[in-house]
Amino acid sequence: MKREQWGSRAGFILAAVGSAIGLGNIWRFPYMAYENGGGAFFIPYLFAMITAGIPFMILEFSMGQKYKGSAPKTLTKIHERFEWLGWFQVGVAFTIGVYYVAVVGWAISYFVLSFNQGWGTDTNAYFFSTYLNLGDNSPTNLGSVQWQIALVMAIAWAITYAAIVGGVKAGIERMSKIMMPILFVMVLALIARMIVLPGALDGVNYMFKPDFSKIWDVKVWAAAYGQIFYTLSIGFSIMLAYSSYLPEKSDVTNNAFMTVLINCGFSILAGIMIFSVLGYMAQVQGKAITDVVSAGVGLAFVTLPEAINLLPAPYILGPVLFFALVVAGLSSLISILEAVVSAIMDKFHWGRKKTANIVLGCGFIISMAFATNGGLLLLDLVDHFTNNIGIISCCLIEILLMTWIAKISDTRRYVNSISDFTISVWFDVCLRFVTPVILAIILVTKVHTLLTEGYGGYDLSLGWIIIFALWIIAGFGEAYKYKEYE
Ligand code: PFF
Repeated sequence: MKREQWGSRAGFILAAVGSAIGLGNIWRFPYMAYENGGGAFFIPYLFAMITAGIPFMILEFSMGQKYKGSAPKTLTKIHERFEWLGWFQVGVAFTIGVYYVAVVGWAISYFVLSFNQGWGTDTNAYFFSTYLNLGDNSPTNLGSVQWQIALVMAIAWAITYAAIVGGVKAGIERMSKIMMPILFVMVLALIARMIVLPGALDGVNYMFKPDFSKIWDVKVWAAAYGQIFYTLSIGFSIMLAYSSYLPEKSDVTNNAFMTVLINCGFSILAGIMIFSVLGYMAQVQGKAITDVVSAGVGLAFVTLPEAINLLPAPYILGPVLFFALVVAGLSSLISILEAVVSAIMDKFHWGRKKTANIVLGCGFIISMAFATNGGLLLLDLVDHFTNNIGIISCCLIEILLMTWIAKISDTRRYVNSISDFTISVWFDVCLRFVTPVILAIILVTKVHTLLTEGYGGYDLSLGWIIIFALWIIAGFGEAYKYKEYE
């Protein structure tokens, strides 16, 4: 069977950008920059982008394009003993997908609520008690499925299913071509309106105010590198799958630069957007910015609704803001499930529809665990483990494989033979030495912190069990020799 292909270069870049731009850019980056030195954070962030983000993106694009395979297939072709790494990555991707869909579902609910600020004045109580119905639950005592959440999650699944079953060109590419321009226009329009509100510029100044003392802190560097891998969707099977649909001999270097720069540029825009809202809110409420900043779920579903209540024309700005969140989340969700679907298709030689039915069907059922009363807590725990242990270990082993076991200088020559412009030995140096050392430091620090300090007061056994189970499944993925890869 001939492998599907992107219809155009722009289509591929928009899909890759769609994957990269996600909730990480909107609710993680602004807070991270603010907390880790403001303007000074750009030094480690840009350093991480140049030494790890761009080279690793070039590496993944070239491997996917050369071997025309999802993660397990491509890694097997690089070295026959490394198929398990691909399956581990696919397992991590699937695990992230089944909880990310819950967040996209909540964002859909909040999009609807935002037309008349249906969350009322106490947004905290609304989100946790009324909407999630969170009681004295825990990640192991989930309560029951909440139908209002299951319904919106089903909508998110349905859109993802439509994109994936539509195929690479008619489904994913077409959706990305619609979604990405809309997202940019929405965010630019929001910034244009909000930056002129009283206090908005103070908020933005706050985010960018440099605190150079922070750049000597190892944690700040770890945060910058961790964010780069997550935000670029590299190292956990997505970009390998997407680049496997590139036509032969298509450029790699320029495409990678564009994807990275558009994504990181968008993060800065998102930071300006979020901090203008926060600055305005602080001014109206007579509070300090430090009292209103937040990240993650708290930012999106408690602070932003509270800020929307105070905005002029909240029935317009609110829906645009939440629609942007939905679009950013959906395009990432599509990419992460496509990474799983393409891996199964490659291994079993099944058709797209059958594979999507099985993968998304199982995903739907499993994701219902996050639609329960305690779903948020489970999500928090699983998210922490997949991001900090799962993704970082995948990235580290993949880089070591691709740069020490496979010959990186051959890859560079291959990349240069097909790309618009050439790259030099800095590529080898960054990938062989700088990036693995930093990844190893991050991984050891994270494991150490988890073992000594724990996380969020949870019983962490479940987190470790999930990581362990993913390794076992990955081992089976390799051991089960079904048919040869094409
Ligand atoms: N690059 C994405 C982000 O920054 O949100 C990371 C991601 C998360 C991709 C979840 C896909 C996904 F399903």
